Amino acid sequence: MLHYSIFLKFCHFLNENAKKASVSSSIVLEYDRSHKGENQLSYRIARAMNDLTKPFKRLPVALIGTGSYVPETRLTNSDLEKMVETSNEWIIERTGIEERRIAAPGEKTSDMATQAAKRAMEAAGVTAEEIDLIIVGTVTPDTFTPSTACYVQANIGAVNAAAFDISAACSSFLFALKTAVQYIGCGQARTALIISSEKLSHIVNWEDRSTCVLFGDGAGAAVLRTGTGIEGDSAILASDIGSDGTLTDLLLVPGGGSAIPTTEENIHEKLYTLAMRGNEVFRYAVAHMKDSALSLIERTGIKPEEVNVVIPHQANLRIINAVAQRLGIPVERVFINLQKYGNTSGAACAIALDEAIRSGKAKKGDIVLMVTFGAGLTWSSAAIRL
Ligand code: UT7
Repeated sequence: MLHYSIFLKFCHFLNENAKKASVSSSIVLEYDRSHKGENQLSYRIARAMNDLTKPFKRLPVALIGTGSYVPETRLTNSDLEKMVETSNEWIIERTGIEERRIAAPGEKTSDMATQAAKRAMEAAGVTAEEIDLIIVGTVTPDTFTPSTACYVQANIGAVNAAAFDISAACSSFLFALKTAVQYIGCGQARTALIISSEKLSHIVNWEDRSTCVLFGDGAGAAVLRTGTGIEGDSAILASDIGSDGTLTDLLLVPGGGSAIPTTEENIHEKLYTLAMRGNEVFRYAVAHMKDSALSLIERTGIKPEEVNVVIPHQANLRIINAVAQRLGIPVERVFINLQKYGNTSGAACAIALDEAIRSGKAKKGDIVLMVTFGAGLTWSSAAIRL
């Protein structure tokens, strides 16, 4: 027991000083396994000492399970025809959306996130105690503070996890993925639960036909864990995130924060709802999704023809087709479910990833290219071997 505690202290020292000391990643794996037995302790320490001379390597990260959840209530285009001046034909022609899901009145963002998380954990075969990091991406948190991630943590009983939210709008799932990859890659976490969950029906102006036909509610989740690094095993091959804060006014919820606090007048003017300059957002979406995905393709050396499935942000069928065309990837290899759910912001690509896997469209060993775009402006992409 004494040896074990010395070893833990030693590992802690190495973790804290890993970069400075150029410690190989192998020590962190050894740290995890050391819980099971101490008989090879001397060997591990000797090996770690040898590794001090090697350059710092990041740990590989694998995707080991996904899950999603959408509420039961469907809002169809013909339902919307009764609410605003629109038509089923216009919505389908301009967006590709046929219906979207709407959360029940008392159903919170964390409730949907919890359902998606439980399904991802079941698929991954991990217990709540094994999770040491929870990141939730959302623009519709249960409360400004605490974070929605903390509610999820309590709901699933992930007592060993640190939990926090990130705000990157429709790009939030892949921003969460990139963040978790950094934690796991540096040995600061071993099993991460990433989620994006949105109750957009809560912040949609149901009198504005230019936005209310687009959005829906739902959640998607994934479990990431230290990978094996063995060729052919699951791995996050690369990821890219980016932002342009000079274009915040193209898509935003102007009120309710410190800039325009909640007042009776602001509520009356519906400043707590989504406002979007759709045409401009459309153009930037195509350009940034293409550039982000191409930069990833170049960096990983993956050829477009080697990508088995593309999972884009599900905002508009015309955007998806334009991006696929510019990437030189046939649209048959693109997973599309926006006709069923509309735009669920950050949750959209997470739900799509889960559905692609569960439906068999994306299989073990496949290379999946995810690419998203959203308010901020923000964009992100990830290349994943399942
Ligand atoms: O998730 C974050 C990223 N978001 C996006 O990527 C969204 C990007 N933008 C878009 O998807 C599209 O710009 C929209 C779907 C939002 C709009 O499509 P559009 O082809 O850009 O239409 P538009 O805004 O140029 O409007 C064309 C016409 C206008 O009428 P006039 O001025 O030509 O008479 C609009 O008033 O369509 C009218 N219109 C509608 N008509 C029927 C706008 N919304 C509707 C509607 N039903 N729901």
